Amino acid sequence: MLTNTSQSYGSVARIFHWLTALLILSAIGLGIYAEGLPRDTDAAVATLVTIYSAHKTIGVAAFFTALARILWSLAQPKPVPLHAERRAETFAAELIHWALYGAMLIMPLSGWIGHAAQTGFAPILWPFGQTLPFVPQSTDVAHLFEGIHKLSALVLYAAIGLHVLGALKHVIIDRDATMARMTRGTPAGEGRVAHGAGAPLAALAIWAAVIGSALPLPAGPERPEARAPAAQNQPSGNWQVSEGTLGFTVQQMGAAVDGSLPAWTAQIDYDEASGTGTVTVQIDTTQLTLGSVTDQAKGAEFFDTATFPIATFTADLTRTEGRAHEATGTLTLRGASVPLTLPFALSIAGDQATMTGEAVLDRRAFGMGESYPDESSVGFRVTVQVTLSATRQPASAALDA
Ligand code: HEM
Ligand code: HEM
Repeated sequence: MLTNTSQSYGSVARIFHWLTALLILSAIGLGIYAEGLPRDTDAAVATLVTIYSAHKTIGVAAFFTALARILWSLAQPKPVPLHAERRAETFAAELIHWALYGAMLIMPLSGWIGHAAQTGFAPILWPFGQTLPFVPQSTDVAHLFEGIHKLSALVLYAAIGLHVLGALKHVIIDRDATMARMTRGTPAGEGRVAHGAGAPLAALAIWAAVIGSALPLPAGPERPEARAPAAQNQPSGNWQVSEGTLGFTVQQMGAAVDGSLPAWTAQIDYDEASGTGTVTVQIDTTQLTLGSVTDQAKGAEFFDTATFPIATFTADLTRTEGRAHEATGTLTLRGASVPLTLPFALSIAGDQATMTGEAVLDRRAFGMGESYPDESSVGFRVTVQVTLSATRQPASAALDA
Protein backbone atom coordinates (compact mmCIF):
# COMPACT_ATOMS: atom_id res chain seq x y z
CA MET A 1 0.00 0.00 0.00
CA LEU A 2 1.25 3.48 -0.85
CA THR A 3 -0.33 5.40 2.01
CA ASN A 4 -0.04 5.15 5.80
CA THR A 5 -2.72 3.83 8.14
CA SER A 6 -2.86 4.20 11.94
CA GLN A 7 -1.06 0.85 12.12
CA SER A 8 1.43 0.99 9.25
CA TYR A 9 3.82 3.06 7.18
CA GLY A 10 2.93 2.96 3.47
CA SER A 11 5.63 2.31 0.87
CA VAL A 12 6.00 6.01 0.01
CA ALA A 13 6.74 6.94 3.65
CA ARG A 14 9.17 4.03 3.94
CA ILE A 15 11.03 4.88 0.73
CA PHE A 16 11.26 8.50 1.86
CA HIS A 17 12.57 7.41 5.28
CA TRP A 18 15.36 5.22 3.95
CA LEU A 19 16.24 7.60 1.11
CA THR A 20 16.64 10.53 3.53
CA ALA A 21 18.60 8.30 5.91
CA LEU A 22 20.94 7.28 3.07
CA LEU A 23 21.45 10.84 1.81
CA ILE A 24 21.97 12.32 5.28
CA LEU A 25 24.36 9.60 6.42
CA SER A 26 26.34 10.02 3.15
CA ALA A 27 26.51 13.79 3.64
CA ILE A 28 27.72 13.29 7.23
CA GLY A 29 30.33 10.75 6.16
CA LEU A 30 31.69 13.02 3.42
CA GLY A 31 31.56 16.11 5.67
CA ILE A 32 33.54 14.47 8.47
CA TYR A 33 35.97 12.86 6.03
CA ALA A 34 36.65 16.13 4.18
CA GLU A 35 37.15 18.05 7.44
CA GLY A 36 40.12 15.85 8.33
CA LEU A 37 41.84 15.89 4.92
CA PRO A 38 45.13 17.74 4.28
CA ARG A 39 45.05 20.91 2.20
CA ASP A 40 48.74 21.39 1.51
CA THR A 41 49.32 20.33 -2.11
CA ASP A 42 47.56 20.82 -5.42
CA ALA A 43 46.50 17.17 -5.53
CA ALA A 44 45.21 17.29 -1.94
CA VAL A 45 43.17 20.41 -2.66
CA ALA A 46 41.75 18.83 -5.83
CA THR A 47 40.61 15.78 -3.79
CA LEU A 48 39.15 18.02 -1.10
CA VAL A 49 37.22 20.04 -3.66
CA THR A 50 35.76 16.90 -5.24
CA ILE A 51 34.63 15.57 -1.87
CA TYR A 52 33.08 18.87 -0.79
CA SER A 53 31.32 19.15 -4.17
CA ALA A 54 29.84 15.69 -3.63
CA HIS A 55 28.91 16.64 -0.04
CA LYS A 56 27.09 19.77 -1.18
CA THR A 57 25.39 18.05 -4.10
CA ILE A 58 24.12 15.21 -1.90
CA GLY A 59 23.11 17.72 0.79
CA VAL A 60 20.99 19.68 -1.66
CA ALA A 61 19.39 16.43 -2.84
CA ALA A 62 18.67 15.62 0.83
CA PHE A 63 16.97 19.01 1.19
CA PHE A 64 14.55 18.47 -1.69
CA THR A 65 13.88 14.89 -0.58
CA ALA A 66 13.15 16.16 2.94
CA LEU A 67 10.76 18.81 1.60
CA ALA A 68 8.85 16.19 -0.38
CA ARG A 69 8.90 13.84 2.59
CA ILE A 70 7.52 16.46 4.95
CA LEU A 71 4.76 17.49 2.54
CA TRP A 72 3.81 13.85 2.13
CA SER A 73 3.77 13.07 5.85
CA LEU A 74 1.60 16.14 6.54
CA ALA A 75 -1.08 14.55 4.40
CA GLN A 76 -0.72 11.12 6.04
CA PRO A 77 -1.92 9.56 9.28
CA LYS A 78 0.93 8.91 11.73
CA PRO A 79 1.05 5.28 12.90
CA VAL A 80 0.32 4.83 16.61
CA PRO A 81 3.17 4.19 19.05
CA LEU A 82 3.43 0.51 19.90
CA HIS A 83 3.69 1.12 23.64
CA ALA A 84 1.73 4.31 24.19
CA GLU A 85 1.47 3.46 27.91
CA ARG A 86 5.22 4.06 28.27
CA ARG A 87 4.71 7.79 28.26
CA ALA A 88 8.31 8.94 28.70
CA GLU A 89 9.70 6.57 26.08
CA THR A 90 7.05 7.51 23.56
CA PHE A 91 7.68 11.19 24.20
CA ALA A 92 11.45 10.72 23.77
CA ALA A 93 10.97 8.82 20.50
CA GLU A 94 8.67 11.51 19.12
CA LEU A 95 10.92 14.33 20.32
CA ILE A 96 13.78 12.74 18.40
CA HIS A 97 11.64 12.26 15.29
CA TRP A 98 10.80 15.99 15.35
CA ALA A 99 14.42 16.91 16.00
CA LEU A 100 15.34 14.81 12.96
CA TYR A 101 12.69 16.53 10.85
CA GLY A 102 14.27 19.84 11.90
CA ALA A 103 17.75 18.62 11.02
CA MET A 104 16.56 17.54 7.58
CA LEU A 105 15.88 21.19 6.78
CA ILE A 106 18.40 23.05 8.95
CA MET A 107 21.48 21.05 7.94
CA PRO A 108 21.18 21.48 4.16
CA LEU A 109 19.82 25.04 4.38
CA SER A 110 22.61 26.28 6.65
CA GLY A 111 25.20 24.58 4.44
CA TRP A 112 23.67 25.98 1.27
CA ILE A 113 23.35 29.54 2.57
CA GLY A 114 26.93 29.45 3.87
CA HIS A 115 28.08 28.21 0.46
CA ALA A 116 26.12 30.89 -1.42
CA ALA A 117 27.43 33.70 0.80
CA GLN A 118 31.01 32.92 -0.10
CA THR A 119 32.80 32.94 -3.40
CA GLY A 120 35.10 30.15 -4.38
CA PHE A 121 35.78 26.61 -3.19
CA ALA A 122 33.93 23.49 -4.26
CA PRO A 123 30.89 24.32 -6.37
CA ILE A 124 27.65 22.31 -6.13
CA LEU A 125 27.06 20.04 -9.12
CA TRP A 126 23.42 21.12 -9.41
CA PRO A 127 22.75 23.67 -12.17
CA PHE A 128 21.61 26.41 -9.77
CA GLY A 129 24.67 28.61 -9.90
CA GLN A 130 26.68 29.63 -6.89
CA THR A 131 24.41 32.22 -5.31
CA LEU A 132 20.97 32.16 -3.71
CA PRO A 133 18.38 34.94 -3.85
CA PHE A 134 18.34 37.12 -0.68
CA VAL A 135 21.74 35.77 0.45
CA PRO A 136 24.38 38.53 0.38
CA GLN A 137 27.94 37.65 -0.61
CA SER A 138 29.64 38.29 2.68
CA THR A 139 32.28 36.51 4.73
CA ASP A 140 30.39 37.33 7.94
CA VAL A 141 27.20 35.73 6.68
CA ALA A 142 29.18 32.72 5.43
CA HIS A 143 30.87 32.26 8.81
CA LEU A 144 27.59 32.60 10.66
CA PHE A 145 25.94 29.85 8.62
CA GLU A 146 29.02 27.62 8.71
CA GLY A 147 28.86 27.98 12.50
CA ILE A 148 25.18 26.98 12.51
CA HIS A 149 25.98 24.08 10.16
CA LYS A 150 28.71 22.73 12.45
CA LEU A 151 26.74 23.17 15.66
CA SER A 152 23.60 21.63 14.14
CA ALA A 153 25.69 18.66 13.05
CA LEU A 154 26.28 17.91 16.75
CA VAL A 155 22.51 17.87 17.40
CA LEU A 156 22.07 15.66 14.37
CA TYR A 157 24.71 13.17 15.61
CA ALA A 158 23.00 12.94 18.99
CA ALA A 159 19.53 12.58 17.45
CA ILE A 160 20.60 9.87 14.99
CA GLY A 161 22.54 8.04 17.70
CA LEU A 162 19.52 7.96 20.04
CA HIS A 163 17.15 7.18 17.16
CA VAL A 164 19.19 4.16 16.05
CA LEU A 165 19.70 2.97 19.65
CA GLY A 166 15.93 3.23 20.16
CA ALA A 167 15.25 1.25 17.00
CA LEU A 168 17.74 -1.42 18.11
CA LYS A 169 16.11 -1.58 21.54
CA HIS A 170 12.81 -2.42 19.86
CA VAL A 171 14.50 -5.19 17.88
CA ILE A 172 16.69 -6.69 20.61
CA ILE A 173 14.90 -6.01 23.91
CA ASP A 174 11.23 -5.43 23.11
CA ARG A 175 11.30 -7.77 20.09
CA ASP A 176 8.32 -5.87 18.71
CA ALA A 177 7.32 -4.82 15.20
CA THR A 178 8.65 -1.24 15.29
CA MET A 179 11.48 -2.00 12.86
CA ALA A 180 9.37 -4.26 10.65
CA ARG A 181 6.84 -1.41 10.31
CA MET A 182 9.53 0.81 8.83
CA THR A 183 11.30 -1.86 6.74
CA ARG A 184 8.58 -4.15 5.42
CA GLY A 185 5.51 -2.08 6.19
CA THR A 186 4.14 -4.71 8.60
CA PRO A 187 1.07 -3.29 10.38
CA ALA A 188 1.23 -3.23 14.20
CA GLY A 189 -0.33 -1.42 17.14
CA GLU A 190 -3.90 -0.78 18.08
CA GLY A 191 -6.47 1.94 18.03
CA ARG A 192 -5.80 5.57 17.50
CA VAL A 193 -3.68 7.87 19.61
CA ALA A 194 -3.84 11.60 19.43
CA HIS A 195 -0.27 12.90 19.10
CA GLY A 196 0.28 15.81 21.48
CA ALA A 197 2.01 19.07 20.63
CA GLY A 198 4.60 18.60 23.41
CA ALA A 199 7.21 16.69 21.40
CA PRO A 200 7.24 19.00 18.35
CA LEU A 201 7.36 22.08 20.61
CA ALA A 202 10.27 20.64 22.62
CA ALA A 203 12.15 19.87 19.38
CA LEU A 204 11.48 23.41 18.18
CA ALA A 205 12.85 24.79 21.47
CA ILE A 206 16.03 22.70 21.08
CA TRP A 207 16.60 23.99 17.55
CA ALA A 208 15.87 27.59 18.54
CA ALA A 209 18.41 27.33 21.39
CA VAL A 210 21.06 25.77 19.14
CA ILE A 211 20.69 28.31 16.35
CA GLY A 212 20.40 31.15 18.86
CA SER A 213 23.70 30.20 20.46
CA ALA A 214 25.42 30.34 17.05
CA LEU A 215 24.21 33.91 16.42
CA PRO A 216 26.72 36.70 17.05
CA LEU A 217 26.30 38.84 20.16
CA PRO A 218 24.71 42.16 19.24
CA ALA A 219 26.85 45.31 18.97
CA GLY A 220 30.23 43.66 19.09
CA PRO A 221 33.36 45.80 18.64
CA GLU A 222 34.10 46.83 15.09
CA ARG A 223 36.48 44.41 13.42
CA PRO A 224 39.69 46.06 12.18
CA GLU A 225 39.23 44.76 8.62
CA ALA A 226 35.87 46.50 8.43
CA ARG A 227 37.46 49.91 8.78
CA ALA A 228 37.94 52.24 5.85
CA PRO A 229 41.26 52.16 4.02
CA ALA A 230 44.17 53.44 6.09
CA ALA A 231 44.89 55.77 3.18
CA GLN A 232 43.04 58.67 4.79
CA ASN A 233 45.50 59.43 7.58
CA GLN A 234 48.69 59.41 5.60
CA PRO A 235 50.66 62.24 4.01
CA SER A 236 49.61 62.14 0.43
CA GLY A 237 51.35 64.52 -1.97
CA ASN A 238 49.16 67.16 -3.54
CA TRP A 239 46.16 64.84 -3.76
CA GLN A 240 44.66 63.28 -0.63
CA VAL A 241 42.88 59.96 -1.10
CA SER A 242 39.40 60.13 0.46
CA GLU A 243 38.22 56.64 -0.39
CA GLY A 244 39.18 53.78 -2.59
CA THR A 245 39.11 50.07 -3.22
CA LEU A 246 41.81 47.67 -4.27
CA GLY A 247 40.41 44.39 -5.51
CA PHE A 248 41.66 41.42 -7.43
CA THR A 249 40.11 38.47 -9.21
CA VAL A 250 41.59 35.00 -9.62
CA GLN A 251 40.26 31.92 -11.34
CA GLN A 252 39.75 29.05 -8.94
CA MET A 253 38.51 25.72 -10.34
CA GLY A 254 37.52 27.69 -13.43
CA ALA A 255 35.31 30.12 -11.48
CA ALA A 256 36.14 33.76 -10.76
CA VAL A 257 36.83 34.51 -7.09
CA ASP A 258 37.03 38.12 -5.92
CA GLY A 259 39.52 39.23 -3.32
CA SER A 260 40.12 42.51 -1.60
CA LEU A 261 43.08 44.37 -0.08
CA PRO A 262 41.28 46.83 2.18
CA ALA A 263 44.29 48.49 3.85
CA TRP A 264 46.63 50.69 1.79
CA THR A 265 47.99 54.19 1.59
CA ALA A 266 48.80 56.20 -1.52
CA GLN A 267 50.98 59.25 -1.94
CA ILE A 268 50.02 60.99 -5.16
CA ASP A 269 51.60 63.96 -6.89
CA TYR A 270 49.89 64.89 -10.11
CA ASP A 271 50.13 68.00 -12.23
CA GLU A 272 46.97 68.55 -14.18
CA ALA A 273 48.56 70.89 -16.71
CA SER A 274 51.24 68.49 -17.89
CA GLY A 275 49.33 65.31 -17.11
CA THR A 276 52.32 63.82 -15.30
CA GLY A 277 53.11 62.84 -11.75
CA THR A 278 54.25 60.10 -9.39
CA VAL A 279 52.53 57.67 -7.08
CA THR A 280 53.67 55.43 -4.23
CA VAL A 281 51.21 52.88 -2.88
CA GLN A 282 51.84 50.78 0.21
CA ILE A 283 49.57 47.81 0.72
CA ASP A 284 49.11 45.92 3.99
CA THR A 285 48.77 42.36 2.65
CA THR A 286 47.89 40.92 6.07
CA GLN A 287 44.38 42.37 5.71
CA LEU A 288 43.63 40.63 2.44
CA THR A 289 40.48 38.57 1.96
CA LEU A 290 39.78 36.03 -0.76
CA GLY A 291 36.42 34.32 -0.23
CA SER A 292 36.72 31.02 1.58
CA VAL A 293 40.43 30.63 0.76
CA THR A 294 41.66 33.73 2.60
CA ASP A 295 43.95 31.72 4.87
CA GLN A 296 45.50 29.82 1.95
CA ALA A 297 46.01 33.09 0.06
CA LYS A 298 47.86 34.60 3.05
CA GLY A 299 49.96 31.45 3.45
CA ALA A 300 53.59 30.88 2.46
CA GLU A 301 52.67 29.59 -1.03
CA PHE A 302 50.89 32.76 -2.06
CA PHE A 303 51.13 36.22 -0.46
CA ASP A 304 53.24 34.93 2.46
CA THR A 305 51.96 37.81 4.56
CA ALA A 306 53.92 36.66 7.62
CA THR A 307 57.22 37.31 5.80
CA PHE A 308 56.09 40.09 3.44
CA PRO A 309 53.34 42.10 5.16
CA ILE A 310 53.81 45.12 2.89
CA ALA A 311 53.64 45.35 -0.89
CA THR A 312 54.59 48.56 -2.70
CA PHE A 313 53.88 50.04 -6.10
CA THR A 314 55.89 53.07 -7.23
CA ALA A 315 55.17 54.54 -10.63
CA ASP A 316 55.34 57.55 -12.90
CA LEU A 317 52.03 58.88 -14.15
CA THR A 318 51.58 60.01 -17.75
CA ARG A 319 48.52 61.14 -19.65
CA THR A 320 48.17 59.20 -22.90
CA GLU A 321 44.99 60.70 -24.38
CA GLY A 322 42.04 62.60 -22.92
CA ARG A 323 41.23 60.98 -19.57
CA ALA A 324 43.40 57.94 -20.32
CA HIS A 325 46.58 57.65 -18.26
CA GLU A 326 49.23 55.11 -17.45
CA ALA A 327 51.08 54.41 -14.21
CA THR A 328 54.36 52.81 -15.25
CA GLY A 329 56.56 51.47 -12.49
CA THR A 330 57.42 48.55 -10.25
CA LEU A 331 55.27 46.34 -8.05
CA THR A 332 57.17 44.75 -5.17
CA LEU A 333 55.17 41.87 -3.78
CA ARG A 334 56.35 38.82 -1.87
CA GLY A 335 59.95 39.97 -2.24
CA ALA A 336 59.81 40.09 -6.06
CA SER A 337 59.99 43.41 -7.95
CA VAL A 338 58.19 43.24 -11.25
CA PRO A 339 57.60 46.01 -13.83
CA LEU A 340 53.93 46.91 -14.08
CA THR A 341 51.94 49.30 -16.25
CA LEU A 342 48.49 50.14 -14.94
CA PRO A 343 46.26 51.93 -17.43
CA PHE A 344 43.67 54.11 -15.70
CA ALA A 345 41.04 56.72 -16.41
CA LEU A 346 41.14 59.97 -14.45
CA SER A 347 38.36 62.53 -14.12
CA ILE A 348 38.88 65.81 -12.33
CA ALA A 349 36.01 68.11 -11.39
CA GLY A 350 37.13 71.12 -9.40
CA ASP A 351 39.12 69.77 -6.45
CA GLN A 352 37.77 66.24 -6.73
CA ALA A 353 39.44 63.49 -8.74
CA THR A 354 38.26 59.96 -9.38
CA MET A 355 40.26 57.22 -11.03
CA THR A 356 39.59 53.64 -12.06
CA GLY A 357 42.19 51.28 -13.44
CA GLU A 358 42.78 47.64 -14.11
CA ALA A 359 45.85 45.54 -14.84
CA VAL A 360 46.57 41.86 -15.29
CA LEU A 361 49.43 40.17 -13.43
CA ASP A 362 50.83 36.68 -13.64
CA ARG A 363 51.15 35.04 -10.20
CA ARG A 364 54.23 33.08 -11.39
CA ALA A 365 56.21 36.32 -11.75
CA PHE A 366 55.98 36.64 -7.97
CA GLY A 367 56.75 32.97 -7.30
CA MET A 368 53.20 32.37 -6.09
CA GLY A 369 51.69 28.91 -6.05
CA GLU A 370 54.67 26.90 -7.20
CA SER A 371 52.97 23.65 -6.23
CA TYR A 372 50.09 24.64 -8.54
CA PRO A 373 52.06 24.40 -11.80
CA ASP A 374 49.03 24.39 -14.10
CA GLU A 375 45.76 26.32 -14.09
CA SER A 376 43.42 23.49 -13.05
CA SER A 377 42.94 24.77 -9.50
CA VAL A 378 44.43 28.30 -9.50
CA GLY A 379 44.72 30.37 -12.69
CA PHE A 380 47.94 32.19 -13.56
CA ARG A 381 46.26 35.51 -14.36
CA VAL A 382 45.30 37.86 -11.55
CA THR A 383 43.23 40.89 -12.51
CA VAL A 384 43.75 43.87 -10.25
CA GLN A 385 41.09 46.59 -10.03
CA VAL A 386 41.69 49.96 -8.41
CA THR A 387 39.24 52.79 -7.83
CA LEU A 388 39.87 55.87 -5.79
CA SER A 389 38.64 59.37 -5.11
CA ALA A 390 41.05 62.10 -4.08
CA THR A 391 40.83 65.72 -3.03
CA ARG A 392 43.23 68.40 -4.18
CA GLN A 393 45.35 69.67 -1.29
CA PRO A 394 45.98 73.37 -0.74
CA ALA A 395 49.52 74.29 -1.84
CA SER A 396 50.77 74.78 1.75
CA ALA A 397 49.51 71.38 2.87
CA ALA A 398 51.31 69.81 -0.04
CA LEU A 399 54.51 71.52 1.03
CA ASP A 400 54.10 70.28 4.63
CA ALA A 401 53.66 66.71 3.47
C1 HEM B 1 20.10 4.17 9.67
C2 HEM B 1 19.50 3.98 10.77
C3 HEM B 1 18.04 4.22 11.00
C4 HEM B 1 17.17 3.30 11.51
C5 HEM B 1 17.48 1.88 11.88
C6 HEM B 1 15.87 3.93 11.60
C7 HEM B 1 14.71 3.31 12.05
C8 HEM B 1 13.48 3.90 12.17
C9 HEM B 1 12.30 3.23 12.60
C10 HEM B 1 12.20 1.77 12.99
C11 HEM B 1 11.28 4.13 12.62
C12 HEM B 1 9.83 3.89 13.00
C13 HEM B 1 9.58 4.39 14.37
C14 HEM B 1 8.14 4.23 14.80
O1 HEM B 1 7.39 3.57 14.12
O2 HEM B 1 7.82 4.79 15.84
C15 HEM B 1 11.83 5.39 12.19
C16 HEM B 1 11.10 6.55 12.09
C17 HEM B 1 11.67 7.77 11.75
N1 HEM B 1 12.97 7.97 11.36
FE1 HEM B 1 14.46 6.61 11.26
N2 HEM B 1 15.95 5.23 11.19
C18 HEM B 1 17.26 5.45 10.81
C19 HEM B 1 17.78 6.63 10.34
C20 HEM B 1 17.10 7.82 10.28
C21 HEM B 1 17.64 9.08 9.84
C22 HEM B 1 19.09 9.31 9.40
C23 HEM B 1 16.64 9.99 9.92
C24 HEM B 1 16.64 11.47 9.57
C25 HEM B 1 17.57 12.28 9.72
C26 HEM B 1 15.46 9.34 10.41
C27 HEM B 1 14.25 9.94 10.64
C28 HEM B 1 13.12 9.33 11.09
C29 HEM B 1 11.87 9.99 11.36
C30 HEM B 1 11.61 11.50 11.24
C31 HEM B 1 10.97 9.02 11.76
C32 HEM B 1 9.51 9.24 12.16
C33 HEM B 1 8.66 9.06 10.95
C34 HEM B 1 7.24 9.52 11.23
O3 HEM B 1 6.55 8.88 12.02
O4 HEM B 1 6.87 10.53 10.61
N3 HEM B 1 15.76 8.02 10.61
N4 HEM B 1 13.19 5.22 11.91
C1 HEM C 1 21.70 16.79 4.91
C2 HEM C 1 22.50 17.70 4.62
C3 HEM C 1 23.87 17.92 5.23
C4 HEM C 1 24.49 17.31 6.29
C5 HEM C 1 23.95 16.22 7.18
C6 HEM C 1 25.79 17.93 6.42
C7 HEM C 1 26.73 17.58 7.37
C8 HEM C 1 27.98 18.15 7.49
C9 HEM C 1 28.98 17.75 8.44
C10 HEM C 1 28.80 16.63 9.46
C11 HEM C 1 30.06 18.54 8.26
C12 HEM C 1 31.37 18.53 9.05
C13 HEM C 1 31.17 19.49 10.20
C14 HEM C 1 32.35 19.60 11.12
O1 HEM C 1 33.43 19.17 10.76
O2 HEM C 1 32.16 20.11 12.24
C15 HEM C 1 29.76 19.45 7.18
C16 HEM C 1 30.61 20.44 6.72
C17 HEM C 1 30.32 21.28 5.65
N1 HEM C 1 29.17 21.26 4.89
FE1 HEM C 1 27.57 20.10 5.18
N2 HEM C 1 25.93 18.89 5.45
C18 HEM C 1 24.78 18.91 4.70
C19 HEM C 1 24.50 19.70 3.63
C20 HEM C 1 25.37 20.67 3.12
C21 HEM C 1 25.08 21.51 1.99
C22 HEM C 1 23.79 21.46 1.19
C23 HEM C 1 26.17 22.32 1.82
C24 HEM C 1 26.41 23.40 0.80
C25 HEM C 1 25.72 23.59 -0.25
C26 HEM C 1 27.13 21.98 2.84
C27 HEM C 1 28.36 22.58 2.99
C28 HEM C 1 29.29 22.26 3.94
C29 HEM C 1 30.56 22.94 4.10
C30 HEM C 1 31.08 24.10 3.25
C31 HEM C 1 31.19 22.33 5.17
C32 HEM C 1 32.56 22.70 5.75
C33 HEM C 1 32.31 23.70 6.84
C34 HEM C 1 33.59 24.24 7.38
O3 HEM C 1 34.58 23.49 7.49
O4 HEM C 1 33.59 25.41 7.73
N3 HEM C 1 26.61 20.97 3.60
N4 HEM C 1 28.49 19.19 6.73
